[in-house]
Amino acid sequence: MALRCAVFASGGGSNFKALLDRKQSGDLHAEFVLLIGNNSAAGVFQHARKQNIPSIHLAPSHFDSELAYVEKLMGLLRDYQVELIVLAGYMKMIPSAVVAAYHNRIINIHPGLLPAFGGPGMYGLRVHQAVLDYGAKITGVTIHFVDEHYDHGPVILQQVVPVLDTDTVNTLADRVLKAEHGNYWRVIEAIAQGKLRIEGRRVFGNV
Ligand code: GAR
Repeated sequence: MALRCAVFASGGGSNFKALLDRKQSGDLHAEFVLLIGNNSAAGVFQHARKQNIPSIHLAPSHFDSELAYVEKLMGLLRDYQVELIVLAGYMKMIPSAVVAAYHNRIINIHPGLLPAFGGPGMYGLRVHQAVLDYGAKITGVTIHFVDEHYDHGPVILQQVVPVLDTDTVNTLADRVLKAEHGNYWRVIEAIAQGKLRIEGRRVFGNV
């Protein structure tokens, strides 16, 4: 049985699209059963619609309390029998009750080499701007399990991407995105195949 994944996303959804393409080509044995997005105008919803994947606009601000938000989220995850939560450009914190219920079953992709250029406020183009401002010569992609701290859980995969003298924030973002698209599906496939073993912060197994 294919691993049942829910994708959480906030933006254009190129990572989600790349995952759907890998599934289509037969490389990735996962089922994308649900998309949750916090921004109704986000391009990511189009990718779900095209493939008839149920998608739900859900934001913490829609709820009077964190408890009500958590209950809604947990209900959806249960209804769709979600086994893995895939954050693909998702800019909101996952409530700690959901992190606890899905211990080591939530993954995130970050457009930088954690723990550098990560943490609250470091997302999307801001990461690439910070890398350029710092004058770093390398950046990259980090894919990690999600714990209760922002950009902090056990690292599954990192790939280095060079920073070029000619880079702007957009050219750097494009190069890093290509590396994201080339790697996220591999991690999900490794999880689907039960290849990963976690000991403390260390994740072992071939991706
Ligand atoms: C990606 O670069 C992803 O790594 C980043 O947002 C972008 C979303 O692009 N995520 C974060 O910064 C999370 N902290 P996409 O919508 O085209 O997949």
